[in-house]
Amino acid sequence: MKREAKMVIDKDFKIDEIDKNLYGSFIEHLGRAVYTGIYQPDHPTADKEGFRQDVIDLVKELQVPIIRYPGGNFVSNYYWEDGVGPKDERKARLDLAWTTLEPNLFGLNEFVSWAKKAETEVMMAVNLGTRGVADACNLLEYCNIDANSYYSNMRRAHGYEKPYDIKVWCLGNEMDGPWQVGAKTPKEYGRLAEETAKAMKMIDPTIKLVSCGSSGIGMPTFPKWESITLEHTYDYVDYVSLHQYYDNKANDTSDYLAKSMDMEQFIKSVIATCDYVKAKKRSKKELKLSFDEWNVWYHSNEADEELKQRKPWSLAPGLLEDIYNFEDALLVGLLLISLMKHADRVKMACLAQLVNVIAPIMTDEKGGAWKQTIFYPFLHASVYGRGIALQPVIQTSKHDTSNHTDVTDVEAIAVYNPENEEVTIFAVNRNIDHDVMFTSDLRGFEDYKVLEYIVMEGHDMKAVNSLLSQNVKPTTKTDYEFDSGIFTTNMKNASWNVIRFGK
Ligand code: AHR
Repeated sequence: MKREAKMVIDKDFKIDEIDKNLYGSFIEHLGRAVYTGIYQPDHPTADKEGFRQDVIDLVKELQVPIIRYPGGNFVSNYYWEDGVGPKDERKARLDLAWTTLEPNLFGLNEFVSWAKKAETEVMMAVNLGTRGVADACNLLEYCNIDANSYYSNMRRAHGYEKPYDIKVWCLGNEMDGPWQVGAKTPKEYGRLAEETAKAMKMIDPTIKLVSCGSSGIGMPTFPKWESITLEHTYDYVDYVSLHQYYDNKANDTSDYLAKSMDMEQFIKSVIATCDYVKAKKRSKKELKLSFDEWNVWYHSNEADEELKQRKPWSLAPGLLEDIYNFEDALLVGLLLISLMKHADRVKMACLAQLVNVIAPIMTDEKGGAWKQTIFYPFLHASVYGRGIALQPVIQTSKHDTSNHTDVTDVEAIAVYNPENEEVTIFAVNRNIDHDVMFTSDLRGFEDYKVLEYIVMEGHDMKAVNSLLSQNVKPTTKTDYEFDSGIFTTNMKNASWNVIRFGK
């Protein structure tokens, strides 16, 4: 069978403008994300605040626009006051989410300062597990208000005169999950989030709020959770959250690479549920989606269980340190394409997470920082995937896998950036056995030329990177034709492709 994919790109086939926050990420007080990750005062590259400059450089390279903080499961029993004020007065606490000791040497003010240096915005989560309306309001006052009030003055007393003006706030984290400290029924969460949202918007009406969605499509209460909680929060919030992690525990690469179809199914179901609530409420408002936890997560599962049991309440244990391989990079590329395909409704997303914990960036406590395989597709999407997502009109050969049917050989999307007059095609040939003849008709882009064709291909599926070796990294490809607006190449089996056109 001839394997081919034909794509048509036209400036007029628009999905929507891609919100830059689609390329957000996440730092939780978990494992070595903070301590020995972004913060390590005794590291040779640390600045006077203790921030590792080698890590900041890599975060800047990724151009991450927004970072969710401080959790995650961690936030559901977090007392933010523990992490502000003079460091020698801060108390260590038990972190119940990860059976870890939290020394509170790094907190809110340090994170805001770090984020400024890393050229990113803060997305703050409030604790709706063990706390509630008042504590969320106090935190917001501390962060955003310039009044002669108790918490504004507390911030000033801590040395931070100007408010931070943090724009995006998450109303709790995964509140449907039985593992969550202070988990709630949908009714309990709906009422609590509604009242918290109402009060927070009274304090600062300019903020955007995220209502907690299900912790994953596999939760037994999905999508009832969304429909019940949103009936309460719909009028006050701007986004609903989605979380999902993917794995190849079955060691079935073909089926693994089809899992971006599951992500799309999840997105479509959440959109449908939001629109059901909209119709029920006779509302004119369209709710947006914040896919604020997504990634591959499974390599470290067993080691983590063992570590938590063997060394409970230790400081910065190496938890969730998944080492990603080549097939993980391909799936991350596919997931990014899925997010871009839904750019009209998914307006925010966070690769979970950013440093050491299921992360594109790893650090060695005694050495440097290094790039995992998944660093690269995220980098390409974040840097070149800004602008308008164009409708992917593609005819492609398909295949079946053990759990998915009609899996497209090639998944692709094009992003048009009118500012710098560039258009970029992101494509994955997820057929692991066969190359595909790929053609793209660039209508309306006749006077464009190929600027660069970046690929990740030809690696062993299980190849990984490390501090000492970057086995899996992109290269450029010259083996293509571009004639009269028609681009043609033999797209290698199992490959990530970034084709950049410009004037
Ligand atoms: O990102 C790791 C964890 O995954 C987060 O703390 C939690 O929200 C999710 O279950």
